[in-house]
Amino acid sequence: MTLATMTPPRQSRSSEMKNWRADFPILDQKVHGFPLVYLDNAATSQKPRPVLEALNRYYEKDNANVHRGIHELSNRATLAFEAARQRAAAFLNARSAEEIIFTRGTTEAINLVAAAWGQRHIKSGDVILLTEMEHHSNLVPWQLLAERTGAQLAFMPVTGDIGLLDMSRLEEFLTSRVKLLAVVHISNSLGTINPVAELCEKARKRGITTLVDAAQSAGHRPLDVRELDCDFLALSGHKMCGPTGIGVLYGRQEVLDGMPPYQGGGEMILSVEYGRSTWKPAPHRFEAGTPDIAGAVGLAAAMDYLDQVGRQNIAAHDMALGAYAYAQLTGLKNLRLFGPHVGRAGIVSFLLKDVHAHDVVELANQRGIALRGGHHCTQPLMRKLGVESTSRASFYFYNTTQEIDRLVEVIREIQAFFEG
Ligand SMILES: Cc1ncc(COP(=O)(O)O)c(C=O)c1O
Repeated sequence: MTLATMTPPRQSRSSEMKNWRADFPILDQKVHGFPLVYLDNAATSQKPRPVLEALNRYYEKDNANVHRGIHELSNRATLAFEAARQRAAAFLNARSAEEIIFTRGTTEAINLVAAAWGQRHIKSGDVILLTEMEHHSNLVPWQLLAERTGAQLAFMPVTGDIGLLDMSRLEEFLTSRVKLLAVVHISNSLGTINPVAELCEKARKRGITTLVDAAQSAGHRPLDVRELDCDFLALSGHKMCGPTGIGVLYGRQEVLDGMPPYQGGGEMILSVEYGRSTWKPAPHRFEAGTPDIAGAVGLAAAMDYLDQVGRQNIAAHDMALGAYAYAQLTGLKNLRLFGPHVGRAGIVSFLLKDVHAHDVVELANQRGIALRGGHHCTQPLMRKLGVESTSRASFYFYNTTQEIDRLVEVIREIQAFFEG
């Protein structure tokens, strides 16, 4: 399937974000003869020069294994790795760097909690409370834990296409059997921004442990774990200008102290005998094996960069683009939009009547636009909404309203193509 050939338009850039775009070499290219319009930021963000340079510098000058050596390079690598932990603690306003565990990403962070915390604290008959809009990463690990322990899962309902949590039913769901509330901050499918501080506060009052899936929020708005007062928070570096393969699990110190190891191996032990071992305290107890040292260095550089851009500015820009896209798409006929009308993040999911989401993505690709189509790892939510998949455009601070205009133009073209 191909759209008719058309002259590529001039690259459009809004002046206020021009400086930031210039930091992202990848954005300055053509795809199928058209300027790249990268609107797949919820899947992964692009990486600015300072992050690429930090990775390069680390490998060119300091690369060695951490914590084991006493030679100069090993010392430097260890210092850089532990400095990245400090940086992540400051980024999240954690009480100390000991509350920061490096993981491969959000998925591994949540699996770590489900395995290590869950093993000690969840038993048959307990309830793990989630929402109907969770990413599979914040659902499947709890299903596995429930299978192992005999616990049950419960789901806070989502109010149809508008995609808000039905907060009026919260009290009804917070029963004495609930031991954990694990909730997504910003939905990757709907663009909903959940009231996580309020949810954590209500849960905490009942002695319920809380986990926030911050995969879509950590790089998009200020995050303060003390203000949120959550017990755990998970994020992925690659969605916030950092490299792939690195993420963070924040854990409240006293909760981490009471948890057994996640994986066994080097780096996490105090002493090992043939029959048994003893563990280091958190966070090292949870970081078996050689960590992603370069990834941590790159993530710290990404955090510096995001603070330079200003996380408030990023949040405001995201919300402005989200609102703009929503308004523009609402004007199109035969288009079903998902997620809240107001107060949405920079993520817009939609469905064109009689056109499969994958066809939209494929045809947009022919115009140089990167979208995503599918269930977005939220299959149960899609089923609830009565759809198989949606097309999704997701924005970051380097995107512009002109790029959204271009998206709308191409959607009109796709609609015309299918109407014949
Ligand atoms: C809300 C949400 N949670 C969790 C994840 C999983 O992140 P990762 O694949 O980086 O572990 C994603 C990824 O898209 C996400 O959007």
